[in-house]
Amino acid sequence: ADSALLDKLGRPLRDLRISVTDRCNFRCVYCMPKQVFGKDFRFIPHADMLSFEEIARIARLFVSLGVEKIRLTGGEPLLRKHVEKLVAQLAGLKTPDGRRVDLTLTTNGSMLAKKAQSLFDAGLRRITVSLDALDDPVFRKMNDVGFRVADVLDGIETALSAGFSPVKVNTVVQRGMNGNQVLPLARHFRNTPVIVRFIEYMDAGSSHDWAARKIVPAQEIVRTIDAEMPLEALEPHYRGETARRWRYRDGSGEIGVIASVTQAFCRDCTRFRLSTEGKLYKCLFATDGHDVRFMLRDGWSDEEIVSALAWHWRRRDNRYSELRGHAAAAAGRKIEMSYIGG
Ligand code: GTP
Ligand code: 5AD
Ligand code: SF4
Ligand code: SF4
Repeated sequence: ADSALLDKLGRPLRDLRISVTDRCNFRCVYCMPKQVFGKDFRFIPHADMLSFEEIARIARLFVSLGVEKIRLTGGEPLLRKHVEKLVAQLAGLKTPDGRRVDLTLTTNGSMLAKKAQSLFDAGLRRITVSLDALDDPVFRKMNDVGFRVADVLDGIETALSAGFSPVKVNTVVQRGMNGNQVLPLARHFRNTPVIVRFIEYMDAGSSHDWAARKIVPAQEIVRTIDAEMPLEALEPHYRGETARRWRYRDGSGEIGVIASVTQAFCRDCTRFRLSTEGKLYKCLFATDGHDVRFMLRDGWSDEEIVSALAWHWRRRDNRYSELRGHAAAAAGRKIEMSYIGG
């Protein structure tokens, strides 16, 4: 592999996020609002989806280019039939210097109680559960399909018992919606191995009515928790980590805040994203992607595909969150979170 594979802003390629389905059984108001994702919405047809063999092959080629971490996303990835089989194929991947690729998955937790053990048995060792509220009425209002919070909490428990470590919880905080859930969530997961990360609400996708006033800045979240449960800052695990980490001063656990709006982290963004149908995206806020599926289906050799992927990385200059609000950032229809997986 080429050790000097850098994009136009000098960033190396380290992460690959693979969306395995654009479907979801939730209709979170900020992600798949019912008015847009209703009965008539056309999801990706099966024939257009990359097969597990195709995903495994492209993932292996990405790893040869420097990818060390792979995250499976959706939509809801546990809706993809037999996703454990894909997990098993990816869990065996090794970096060129012989380390195991860090494989993880983001889920809404609704099917986790049922699937945690089989995912663990397939080789998955860490997992992230999206959970926006602890209060049941607030949770139902946010997922908009009447799903009970108790069932997601059950899934988290099952994942912990199965041996997943760490288990993380991601909470998108929206003022006026679940802003009052920050403290209950922090309290609930304190004294457990679960790490809750509070995320600033972003203007991702094109189908929800985002507004700057709905953001709760990460700084405010930290201040709120710290007032009741004193915190101290932790060092990042690695350069470019999305979350700023904090620990409770009394040793009762860790939280994180993801300040993707107020403190953009594009400078160290090492992520490529692959959609369910095999399009490659250079940014969460991209408006279009590059088809790689035809390479897999038209008989390209590994070498040919690797050099095409490297070519795309070298041409990458995206930094949407740093440009947000400026004219340069506003062009075209942004892809949906449910399509590219956050
Ligand atoms: P860990 O390895 O577990 O720390 O994962 P991570 O924080 O890198 O990934 P995760 O998918 O858990 O990210 C959490 C949230 O951060 C996502 O749901 C997004 O809201 C946001 N996020 C992650 N990556 C990016 C990114 O590249 N750009 C922006 N703007 N936001 C991101
Ligand atoms: N802003 C921030 N995070 C978001 N997610 C979905 N939409 C947004 C948004 N507008 C998060 C979900 C989940 C992951 C897939 O992306 O909460 O954790
Ligand atoms: Fe589904 Fe996650 Fe989007 Fe909610 S945020 S609709 S759980 S993909
Ligand atoms: Fe990376 Fe784009 Fe997110 Fe910036 S906005 S951190 S470039 S994905």
